[in-house]
Amino acid sequence: MDHIVIGLFLVALLGCPWEAQAYGEAWDLDAPCQPYVKKLAAAQAEMVQCASNFSSPPKVCTNCIDQYIALKQTEHDTQALTTITSLDNTTCARVIYGNYLVSYSWEISDAVSRRIWDQSRCVSCLKINWDLEHGNSTFDYEDSTVKFEVKLLQWRNCINNVTDHSDNTTEICENCMTHFNALFKYYWQIYTAPESDFCVDVETTMNDTMNIWHNVWRCGDDFRPVDRHHDVTMLIFASVFLGVITFLFYAGSFIQAERAHRNIIQYSRMNPPSALRSRLLSSSTLADDFSSTTSTTQGFLRAPPSVR
Ligand SMILES: *[C@@H]1O[C@H](CO)[C@@H](O)[C@H](O)[C@H]1NC(C)=O
Ligand SMILES: *[C@@H]1O[C@H](CO)[C@@H](O)[C@H](O)[C@H]1NC(C)=O
Ligand SMILES: *[C@@H]1O[C@H](CO)[C@@H](O)[C@H](O)[C@H]1NC(C)=O
Ligand SMILES: *[C@@H]1O[C@H](CO)[C@@H](O)[C@H](O)[C@H]1NC(C)=O
Ligand SMILES: *[C@@H]1O[C@H](CO)[C@@H](O)[C@H](O)[C@H]1NC(C)=O
Ligand SMILES: *[C@@H]1O[C@H](CO)[C@@H](O)[C@H](O)[C@H]1NC(C)=O
Repeated sequence: MDHIVIGLFLVALLGCPWEAQAYGEAWDLDAPCQPYVKKLAAAQAEMVQCASNFSSPPKVCTNCIDQYIALKQTEHDTQALTTITSLDNTTCARVIYGNYLVSYSWEISDAVSRRIWDQSRCVSCLKINWDLEHGNSTFDYEDSTVKFEVKLLQWRNCINNVTDHSDNTTEICENCMTHFNALFKYYWQIYTAPESDFCVDVETTMNDTMNIWHNVWRCGDDFRPVDRHHDVTMLIFASVFLGVITFLFYAGSFIQAERAHRNIIQYSRMNPPSALRSRLLSSSTLADDFSSTTSTTQGFLRAPPSVR
């Protein structure tokens, strides 16, 4: 008697679940695949939300690794669905990725891998050791990324130490210049080396760091020891170059003196190497974001460098 009452109560509460499901299965050719579709959808949604959460500045490589690995794992599992089929015996893998005019699942996964992950050059910052067979993929950060993080933290710690005593930005500039220079120098060394690269996460972090340093706190550009040497080299090079060009120009003019029309070549001015550096500087200021990160003195790397 009791279980009938409970049963009636459940029916009243939930409506008639079996009826809806019975009809649903009758119409839905792909009913057996739906749980896998939903699982993939959940993994994609997590990844997309993470990428959107960390889009300004873009730092998907260091913040969404778990979500990316989980998505790739789910994709792999979905593609391996060859024994589960729709009602007309099409495998669920085919149902999800290729049976219809358009596969949203494929489009989203493709956009995530190629337009978000690859375009952020995440391979430059971390290496994923794929083990999709056992669902046991792990990752390691590249050494250069870890070293950058260490230098970034030293600089942020310095600023925290200084701002504990005062809010005087002149003091920040004076006391933390060494740390800032060390950070920039390290970044620049990797950035300009042809064989190595950073992912977008590091580049945007450096861009924002330079912005806050130069544009918000108005700290000076004290790279004299490095740049002056560079400048002298450039100056000598430019002088010699111009000397040779001038000589050739006049020699050419002399030879062509008899001609009625003389082509005057205009030599475009040489771009000094500082152009590269100003390319790094963005005009936007991200003071709010920065203050929230300094307060905890966190870097941008996710703490435990391994994932299951
Ligand atoms: C994105 O941010 C929201 C709001 O802070 C948070 O609830 C959500 O868990 C975040 N999602 C991911 C995947 O990071
Ligand atoms: C699907 O395959 C099963 C087993 O191979 C078979 O019994 C069934 O008739 C097939 N159904 C259709 C619609 O082809
Ligand atoms: C997962 O992989 C790590 C190293 O790649 C290995 O040490 C560990 O034993 C693996 N775990 C399982 C459950 O396979
Ligand atoms: C900041 O202060 C802490 C403790 O007061 C010290 O351990 C740390 O080395 C200091 N950092 C810098 C960059 O001066
Ligand atoms: C900030 O510190 C510098 C040098 O320590 C000092 O000359 C200046 O007056 C200070 N400014 C303020 C607003 O306290
Ligand atoms: C850094 O800022 C410059 C100037 O705004 C911009 O062109 C460049 O794309 C930025 N780099 C990164 C990695 O955000």
